[in-house]
Amino acid sequence: CGIVGYIGKQDAQSILLNGLGKLEYRGYDSAGVAIETGSELRIEKSVGRLAVLTDRLSMSPILGTVGIGHTRWATHGRPSDANAHPHTACDQEFAVVHNGIIENYLQLRERLLAQGHRFTSETDTEVVAHLLEEYWTGDLLSTVLRVLKDIRGAYSLAILTRKDPAKIIAVRKHSPLVVGFGEGEQFLASDIPALLDYTREMHILEEGQIAVLTASGIDFFDLDGHPMTVEPFLVTWDAQAAEKGGYAHYMQKEIYEQPKAVRDTLSGRVTEDGTRVVLSELGWTEDLIKQIDRIHIVACGTSYHAGLVGKAAIEKLARIPVDVEVASEYRYRDPIVSRNTLIVVISQSGETADTLAALRNAKALGNRVLAITNVVGSSVAREADDVIITWAGPEISVASTKAYTTQLVALYLFAIYLGQTLQTIAQDAVTTYVRELQALPQKLDEVLQSAPQIEEIARAFAVWDDAFFLGRGIDYYVALEGALKYKEISYIHAEAYPAGELKHGTLALIVDHVPVIALVTQDELYEKSLSNIKEVKARDAYVLGIAWAGDEEIAKSVDRVLYVPRTLPFFAPIMLIAPLQLLAYYASVARGNDVDKPRNLAKSVTVE
Ligand code: G6P
Repeated sequence: CGIVGYIGKQDAQSILLNGLGKLEYRGYDSAGVAIETGSELRIEKSVGRLAVLTDRLSMSPILGTVGIGHTRWATHGRPSDANAHPHTACDQEFAVVHNGIIENYLQLRERLLAQGHRFTSETDTEVVAHLLEEYWTGDLLSTVLRVLKDIRGAYSLAILTRKDPAKIIAVRKHSPLVVGFGEGEQFLASDIPALLDYTREMHILEEGQIAVLTASGIDFFDLDGHPMTVEPFLVTWDAQAAEKGGYAHYMQKEIYEQPKAVRDTLSGRVTEDGTRVVLSELGWTEDLIKQIDRIHIVACGTSYHAGLVGKAAIEKLARIPVDVEVASEYRYRDPIVSRNTLIVVISQSGETADTLAALRNAKALGNRVLAITNVVGSSVAREADDVIITWAGPEISVASTKAYTTQLVALYLFAIYLGQTLQTIAQDAVTTYVRELQALPQKLDEVLQSAPQIEEIARAFAVWDDAFFLGRGIDYYVALEGALKYKEISYIHAEAYPAGELKHGTLALIVDHVPVIALVTQDELYEKSLSNIKEVKARDAYVLGIAWAGDEEIAKSVDRVLYVPRTLPFFAPIMLIAPLQLLAYYASVARGNDVDKPRNLAKSVTVE
């Protein structure tokens, strides 16, 4: 979910709506605002995209200079007008917006019901409004402090009341929240881009920090109400970077930004002569590296798929055993870790609840945690022992593209770094890897030139309700990511299979002309992959092969080939993923879907 807040002298409604527009990627099944008008605390909220609320408010604007707003991704209670935020209590004098989960809300709700409170929604959030009403002390901060003692969970909140109208209180417990400082006006949001139109001076609330916003300034407190001082920082990146810049969709723009994102992620991380990887941000000693006896990579979604490639890279180059697991499983599994197991968490947003929980478990066990994330200052970045930032820039489209590519680059760099230190790879090989990494942006540019061909193929595939993605070895890991892209934005059933495993079940689904996308870049598995392609061709599938430029053999076995520039088999994912992203993109466009905001999904999943 996304939270915004404004207090000052300007029209709150337009500032809140603008901020919510920038946060819609966090959830978009309903939206709402609460604005103090001087005579009432007016709440307007609606199920559906933000546009529905915007239309409604344009017919009947709310005039006021203090307000909070919310864009929702449903957890407790289905998307509906009643469940949309802001929430209020019986006397309509409090407004609460919330991101995260209040774990003990059922008990609190029962208690409040017994005390005579009447609830109008199914959300966990509404209990906060009723508790505020119940505990009202005459002052908002002391009331909020009292309420916080009752609620458990991981959340952030923004609160407004008629009874003390010249202030907004924001609380951060685990879910992200940023405040922006202005002249006679102050701002609040779940994420930095929502504030960039108004200010660059910001502070990311710390865990357990409370901000009290008044028009003239922001005061900070801990959960016991003790004042805290903060050092604001200046955001230097460009607001333009987060806009669509001429492309039809953010996803398309982000796909095309990949050559630059790869270049930026490599930048400063290899020596000028191209012979070594330098990860000076880690500052690890040789001894520390030698002690690592095992690595657990933990992540969700696309980041998990990057982790699989990371496993292949680290095991090959550094000969350290690596396990990769989705964070929602890992965190509850009581994994076997030794003191010298390194935990690597990968997260674009740095806020994914399950990934963050896995990180915290690992830290509690005393293990070293390295985070690979795209967001400086994110929870994951702040809580890990070490961080490698992927310099992909803000990724807005829900379907992750450039973040994945840069995660791969970060993992390759890390694998080479381990290998060169442990001397599990010879110097010649290090040089070859580094040079080849540096050549990738240029090759990616070439790959992107096949977009018109891919569009044509995608249109033909989009009439089918299924698609199968096959590969062996690293190609299989990319197939998983290709199938995820395809299903999440085209809504077409897509399955990735290790090509050799097909005959044990999935082959039964192969029928006349069904689209099969076969990835064939791993030289030592080439013959095996061709045999598997023949198996599906024998069942009359329509096979699109994606292979190295110059591979004439493959053309004899498939219906259509897309060639990508050759690199080391090892780096193939960087070449393969762009065509797969474009295939998904054009299939989604062909089906008339909302590419950047696929149904039921959110960009940043800050709830379990
Ligand atoms: C959501 C997004 C995915 C992303 C996953 C993990 O499901 O829609 O694109 O891969 O979360 O997010 P993270 O920010 O931790 O990489």
